[in-house]
Amino acid sequence: MNNLPIKTREMFSHHLDSTIWNDFEFRNDDIVISTYGKSGTTWMQQIIAQLLFGGNPNLEVAEMSPWMDLRIPPKEIKLQLVAAQTHRRFLKTHLPVDALRFSNKAKYIYIGRDARDVIWSMYNHHVNANQIWYDALNKTPGLVGPEIEKPSEDIKEYWNEWLQKDGFPFWPFWENVRSWWKTRDLPNVKLIHFSDLKKDLPTEIRHIAAFLEIDINDQDWPKILEYCSFEWMKNNATKSVPLGGAFWDDGAKVFINKGVNGRWADTLSDADSKKYEKQAELELGKECADWLKSGHQ
Ligand code: A3P
Repeated sequence: MNNLPIKTREMFSHHLDSTIWNDFEFRNDDIVISTYGKSGTTWMQQIIAQLLFGGNPNLEVAEMSPWMDLRIPPKEIKLQLVAAQTHRRFLKTHLPVDALRFSNKAKYIYIGRDARDVIWSMYNHHVNANQIWYDALNKTPGLVGPEIEKPSEDIKEYWNEWLQKDGFPFWPFWENVRSWWKTRDLPNVKLIHFSDLKKDLPTEIRHIAAFLEIDINDQDWPKILEYCSFEWMKNNATKSVPLGGAFWDDGAKVFINKGVNGRWADTLSDADSKKYEKQAELELGKECADWLKSGHQ
């Protein structure tokens, strides 16, 4: 395959340690699920788990599909864990393409979601996080850069700061989307949009299965759809949410929150939204910005 993306840098923060990919041994059928974050990563992990295991309600998906570049637990432990897996691996990343190692052995799925939806989801994740979350991120040895702090009580302030400081206090947003958008024509990359999953989940799941070369048995299909629905995932959130939801006092259901887009419309004015959309177009170009806003046109 020509023009494979090349690793150009490492990323470190309270969350990230991209160096894990340097020591990772790819297998021919690996699947890598990538998003900026808060974009349907867990949903895609669930979809792929259900496709691989033919509609099974008992899968501990969060354990089966670790977030590789999260610096907790340390990479030595995570590398051993995934090396010992005997099923087809489906791993999670939140890195831009040029901070991981891109392999033509693996298939990559990138999910896009409008940044306004991402941040409304992120705010809920951050504002409800408990001390276990802060201690894990800030006190685990190896922290690079500042600690992550409690968010503003005002979601609009949170949004403005995130936009002005490109991803603060997490990681840059625009480069993440831009880098994956550039790979969209590679045969081992598939871009999917959160809005398209919402609009027509059965069709999207069939496309994902075709891309991953997974055959679906007719008798498994209703179970696959049921276990990937929002209602089922919310009611069984401990299985798919990291550490069973220990980072939120109200548990894993906090993470599988509302599952809808557009919640920002009550808070952002038309002028705020236009300003964001203009910035998205400048950062991404029109075609990519249009896709990020709503998926397939
Ligand atoms: P909201 O916070 O907007 O509800 P990620 O896994 O990348 O962190 O994304 C989390 C977002 O995906 C949350 O969005 C969560 O509710 C949503 N999500 C997870 N499973 C879903 C499903 N089956 N249907 C719709 N949304 C889902």
